[in-house]
Amino acid sequence: MTDTDNETDGEDAPGADSVALDPWGSSTVSDYRKLFEEFGIESFDDVIDEVPDPHFLMRRAIIFGHRDYRRVADAMRNDEPFAALSGFMPTGDPHIGHKMVFDEIVWHQQQGADAYALIADLEAHAARGLSWDEIDEHAKDYLLSLLALGFDAEEGTLYRQSANRELQDLAFELGAEANFSEFEAIYGFDGETDVSHMQSVVTQMADILYPQLEESKPTVIPVGPDQDPHMRLARDLAERTRYFKVTEAYASVAFDDDERPLVAAAYDAREQYAEDHGSPRCAEAADWLREDADLAAAYDDEVVESVVQKLDNAGMEPLRPRIRFFDRQATDEAFEALIDEVAGEKRVFEGHVDAFEIDRETAEDLALAVEVDHGGYGFVPPSSIYHRFMTGLTGGKMSSSIPASHISLLDDPEDGYDKVKAATTGGRETAEKQRELGGEPDKCPVYELYAYLLAGDDDEFAERVYEECAGGERLCGGCKEEAAELMEEFLEDHQEKREEAEELLEGLDVELNSARGGL
Ligand code: TRP
Ligand code: SF4
Repeated sequence: MTDTDNETDGEDAPGADSVALDPWGSSTVSDYRKLFEEFGIESFDDVIDEVPDPHFLMRRAIIFGHRDYRRVADAMRNDEPFAALSGFMPTGDPHIGHKMVFDEIVWHQQQGADAYALIADLEAHAARGLSWDEIDEHAKDYLLSLLALGFDAEEGTLYRQSANRELQDLAFELGAEANFSEFEAIYGFDGETDVSHMQSVVTQMADILYPQLEESKPTVIPVGPDQDPHMRLARDLAERTRYFKVTEAYASVAFDDDERPLVAAAYDAREQYAEDHGSPRCAEAADWLREDADLAAAYDDEVVESVVQKLDNAGMEPLRPRIRFFDRQATDEAFEALIDEVAGEKRVFEGHVDAFEIDRETAEDLALAVEVDHGGYGFVPPSSIYHRFMTGLTGGKMSSSIPASHISLLDDPEDGYDKVKAATTGGRETAEKQRELGGEPDKCPVYELYAYLLAGDDDEFAERVYEECAGGERLCGGCKEEAAELMEEFLEDHQEKREEAEELLEGLDVELNSARGGL
């Protein structure tokens, strides 16, 4: 990165798009931390300790963020079912950026996941305008590389969007939960957007939930952060298909999500104001909240006001924690069955039932079981993990359309060698300066090659390159030579494995040639 770039890095420069996430744009991300604040992606750091044997991309913080990965890690630790799925738009040759995703799928499969990989051919045709002939050619190349990198096709599932009937049915059902205004808000679609492009979005929603068609299970979608808008929508749609919504409640009146913590705090403080400590009344809590400025100060004025009013209206009703099941779109039979199965004290209302003796987790499990028993999908919200984008070998973004910026998995190994040798580095102008100041591995595409790929599972090796570079003991000429040789070896080996995978692929039940001809 040059100094001029740094100057625009701070406050939003006009037109700065550093955190705009656009699945079909050329989004680059200059500040990954912003994704945490602006989109609610969580830092992977927070869950890595819960992963039994984290992948090197996790250990090196190349996988930097996640949504809801905890439930996947839990399943992994407890030997419960979970799934991993990702998709590939066959718009060009698979390259070393895709290899990261292939590795993530394969690794999850090795950790026990039901693994899925799909060719997003409908999306490539609709959103990128590729012809079916081009798509067929590239589709095969993605699958061969995935197999060569260790995907177990007997255990896992491979499909093309266009050839998967069940997927299309699911897409259709999910489409019934979404509307154009949402697409407008999320993707910037407008009156000019063609309908097939929109259809490719519902298809991706179906991809993401497809592993749960047979059985609900935590599912991780490894992707780049540009795909996060899809994740947010998929998580939303998954929830919208659910029969019941389980929440915590404190009285017959409904408190919304930002009110509930305040009510919970008021309940916890009941001994301070309730005449009968075992049975605080709503009105007592309201009075106390009005007077206890300390507690109320931590909440929005509007929230406090609304909570106080609701509690006042409830009057002498006891304030009492409970689990509430809302009927969102359950059949009558399913709602009846749920009521039957709630153990212990319960109260049935129009459209919801309150349970006083079960905990949240039991309630969630029950709601899911009843839904599935009555023909619902029972989707659990899909999880995601996000990896950093690799820098292009020539600096800037790694792009399929600039051959020198990336290494294709199909590149002649000698070309791979040459591309590494020609790459930009984080080195200093002269060898002396480099010895004196050290190089800048954090700004070096060659160092990235080591960390993302060439060092493989060997952390010590990756760290040694980093330390030697930063300490000035490593000079770029030798460093690139070493990387170039490793890259050449990797490509040779990978391509050999691709050849071996040819036969395997022929025998698999995955459509290689679409019947759509020259459109
Ligand atoms: N939209 C993805 C891309 O541009 C491809 C894709 C389609 C995908 N379906 C998916 C990715 C499901 C993850 C999960 O590359
Ligand atoms: Fe990059 Fe290697 Fe040069 Fe360091 S020594 S700047 S890692 S090429």
